[in-house]
Amino acid sequence: MRKNIVAGNWKMNTTVPEGVALAKEVNAALKGTKANCDVIICVPFTHLVPVNDVIDNTVLGLGAENCADHASGAYTGEVSAPMVASTGARYVILGHSERRQYYGETSETLREKVALALENGLTPIFCIGEVLEERENGTYNEVVRKQIEEGLFNLCAEGFSKIILAYEPVWAIGTGKTATADQAEDMHAFIRSVIEEKYGKEVAENTSILYGGSCKPSNAKELFAKPDVDGGLIGGASLKCADFMGIVEAFN
Ligand code: PGA
Repeated sequence: MRKNIVAGNWKMNTTVPEGVALAKEVNAALKGTKANCDVIICVPFTHLVPVNDVIDNTVLGLGAENCADHASGAYTGEVSAPMVASTGARYVILGHSERRQYYGETSETLREKVALALENGLTPIFCIGEVLEERENGTYNEVVRKQIEEGLFNLCAEGFSKIILAYEPVWAIGTGKTATADQAEDMHAFIRSVIEEKYGKEVAENTSILYGGSCKPSNAKELFAKPDVDGGLIGGASLKCADFMGIVEAFN
């Protein structure tokens, strides 16, 4: 059966000492409770090694927020999947809407990144989601279908079964405006049907699909109660231990 997962996405926040302190706090909180889901934090590249040193990977997984579309070479400023894997991280967020919007990431580069992540034993948390205009003009299902088909459907079933998906409507990210639980469920069920068409029912049923976009302790329970919502990718609320733990506890 698919896993329930709460993953934090710290984005470009915290210095190294601040990040290490936050990771320690989350790790300690998790040790003191019984989480009914996998818990992951995805942190800036600079934080991976020092954060990995202070967390217990049996209670808290570690991920990066991106990786390069090449394995090594003359790509000044880039950080590769083998480098990320060598820090001890096991996950990597790929195709976040901020990467697609501000850094011009296309499905073509994302296919390379996904392949490199998988080759290096990293689990991609692959993000998809429509912008406000596409929500309003009713094309959102087709937009999301295209992102999945173009970014992931070159994978064989075995490769695809290693992917975690995160549906993040761009209009809900950092805006305080959350998709309703029904809107999230409709989309997640649609995404699962798209996976089923390609890979069959078993793969579709086993794929974790997270919701992201202004998820917080006050709305997490209602969202996670939906049958096709398998947890959350959490931005702002992952930067405060109490808020993040409040979301983790929505599964209790
Ligand atoms: P948010 O971000 O929770 O701050 O809306 C979610 C994300 O971008 O992953």
